Amino acid sequence: MDLSATLGRLTLRNPILVASGTFGYAREMAGLVDFSKLGGIVPKTVTQKPRPGNAPPRTVETASGMLNAIGLDNDGIDHFIAHHLPYLRTLPTAIIANIAGKSEDEFVQMAEQIGKESGLAALELNLSCPNVSGGVDFAIHPEVTHRVIERVRAVCPLPLIAKLTPNVTDVVAIARAAADGGADCVSLINTIMGMAIDWKKRRPILGNTTGGLSGPAIKPVALRMVWQVARQVKVPVIGIGGIATVDDVMEFLVAGASAVQMGTVNFYDPSAAMRVVGQLPEALGVLGASSIREVVGTLD
Ligand SMILES: Cc1cc2nc3c(=O)[nH]c(=O)nc-3n(C[C@H](O)[C@H](O)[C@H](O)COP(=O)(O)O)c2cc1C
Repeated sequence: MDLSATLGRLTLRNPILVASGTFGYAREMAGLVDFSKLGGIVPKTVTQKPRPGNAPPRTVETASGMLNAIGLDNDGIDHFIAHHLPYLRTLPTAIIANIAGKSEDEFVQMAEQIGKESGLAALELNLSCPNVSGGVDFAIHPEVTHRVIERVRAVCPLPLIAKLTPNVTDVVAIARAAADGGADCVSLINTIMGMAIDWKKRRPILGNTTGGLSGPAIKPVALRMVWQVARQVKVPVIGIGGIATVDDVMEFLVAGASAVQMGTVNFYDPSAAMRVVGQLPEALGVLGASSIREVVGTLD
């Protein structure tokens, strides 16, 4: 069986990645996960300056999924490069850094800085965090998406993955703008904007008032968007959203994803990604396939 995943200039051992913000900077998972089994790791988003993140509570469990408003709590890009990257680059899997800028210039400066570092397989641009007050949700505007990626492309040699938000009317237009701007792939979806309320206190539960919904509840939305983008935009798609089992993965591949990221599941079952990799050969066999690429985008 050939489990490799081809994403333009980026080739992965297999199509199973772990999603940004759900796997720390990997150190946290070292005792629980055999990194050599994974297709790749996307560490938590880093920003140019350290950010304290949002006021607590930052997460809440709802009847159908998790709401979070972490607010990109991180120690900044210099700390990432000095402290986390030396560890990450020793791991036996692909490392895809993830950055978010508050402005276009910040994206460009960070991409230039990180593009000079060794040990990264690609760079994911988090154009889509819904929880950053005062920040711009870049990927709700096709022109802004196009311009940020074009400018980043000019200064950074790494394969670029544009991470898109589902909180838009027409995700295809945004994905097309990302592709036209020079993105090697698009990844979707980030979390869906939501809210939880304590009616007795007449208060929102999250410190940030609103948050992003993730987990199995969002899978149908993610599948629909991946399918729409994969058939209409000519760059590889990485599917994200509620993926927890090998069946979920196969659905995304058939819908048109060339690889996937598993997120929220890591919080309640850190071994899920490893397990799913082990189950892929049998699932491919059910379709009479002997490689991942034979099933990508094969929806009848
Ligand atoms: C607690 C939490 C923190 C997250 N932090 C980030 C982040 O820093 N950067 C990012 O690009 N996505 C972040 N995400 C979004 C996930 O990477 C993923 O796109 C989303 O949760 C949907 O996938 P899932 O349903 O498998 O979790 C975060 C999600 C959660 C639940």
